[in-house]
Amino acid sequence: MKAIVVADDTLRWQEVATPDLRPGEVRIAVHATAINRADLVQRSGGYPPPPGASPIMGLECAGTVMEVGEGVSRVRPGDAVCALLAGGGYAEQVVVAAGQVLRIPAGLSMVQAAAIPEVFATAYLNLYMEAGASSGERVVLHAGASGVGTAAIQLCRELGNPCFVTLGNAEKLKACLELGADAGFVRHEGSFSDAVKQWAADGVDVILDPVGGVYLEDNLNCLSLEGRLVLIGLMGGAASEINLGLLLMKRLRIIGSTLRARSIAAKSAVMDQLESVVWPLLAEGRIIPVIDSTFPIHEADAAHQQVAGNETIGKVVLEVPQ
Ligand SMILES: NC(=O)c1ccc[n+]([C@@H]2O[C@H](COP(=O)([O-])OP(=O)(O)OC[C@H]3O[C@@H](n4cnc5c(N)ncnc54)[C@H](OP(=O)(O)O)[C@@H]3O)[C@@H](O)[C@H]2O)c1
Repeated sequence: MKAIVVADDTLRWQEVATPDLRPGEVRIAVHATAINRADLVQRSGGYPPPPGASPIMGLECAGTVMEVGEGVSRVRPGDAVCALLAGGGYAEQVVVAAGQVLRIPAGLSMVQAAAIPEVFATAYLNLYMEAGASSGERVVLHAGASGVGTAAIQLCRELGNPCFVTLGNAEKLKACLELGADAGFVRHEGSFSDAVKQWAADGVDVILDPVGGVYLEDNLNCLSLEGRLVLIGLMGGAASEINLGLLLMKRLRIIGSTLRARSIAAKSAVMDQLESVVWPLLAEGRIIPVIDSTFPIHEADAAHQQVAGNETIGKVVLEVPQ
């Protein structure tokens, strides 16, 4: 099969070994995969795949089931599916544990379906399973126009959580307000904390933060009593000082969370939640995967540059020739 291989920091679509199918796994003929920020870090050597995962980039895909391993009854050959992967999506074929595979929601294309698993799993896991956001609680989403952000805004809208976004420019803010965010702030205009406090005088209940270091103090300031900060990335650095007094007096919780390295059982549990809560909303068209652009997979390098430029709104999808 062909796959994207990193050689001298360029991405080449070339022949590689086809992965073996083991019991409990599903082999998918990939029609489309999508880029995640983590791919850019993996490409530069900063985010190695977890033990046992494919060294090929790609954390999600949509395609057709080719064959299933012993013991798999969840899907059958010929089914149109999408999958949450620990790696291997930038390829003609991928094998993945059956629990991480779902049939494509009714009415969605392969390109749309490829843009769903990683960002909706991340947003749902961290807002509703880790932070335990309940209906009516107020949420701040940093990088609101990112793939994760555009998924999270729509989940907040549908599940009853008013949300405030931060992002890089006015065009992104407009797009996020149209998707259902209540208010927002352009991060290049200073600290977001005054704007958040104007929006929620008593502070917010949950913050989903992929920025880390440089936002930590303002995040703690913005949280209400018993607020939860879920840290999902370190785009703004890994080091910071915490005012432990704030943590103590407001009874705050800081939760670190990664999805990729979790067990198959844990990832399958997230996918099961998506199937019961989010799949019906996707099938009704109430939630949509927000797609910035689509590239043929042999142009993955250009697609990566597009993501790295911080101008994208939603997902960049790679199509695999059939
Ligand atoms: N822990 C997990 O399990 C998990 C899973 C998936 C994703 N993530 C993380 O979630 C984040 C979003 O992922 P994605 O793939 O959806 O990203 P994406 O679509 O590529 O969007 C990332 C956006 O982050 C903003 N940004 C970039 N550098 C920044 C900085 N230094 N400070 C503040 N904002 C910055 C930019 O938007 P603006 O210029 O508009 O702010 C950029 O467009 C990434 O950090 C990713 O690693 C974590």
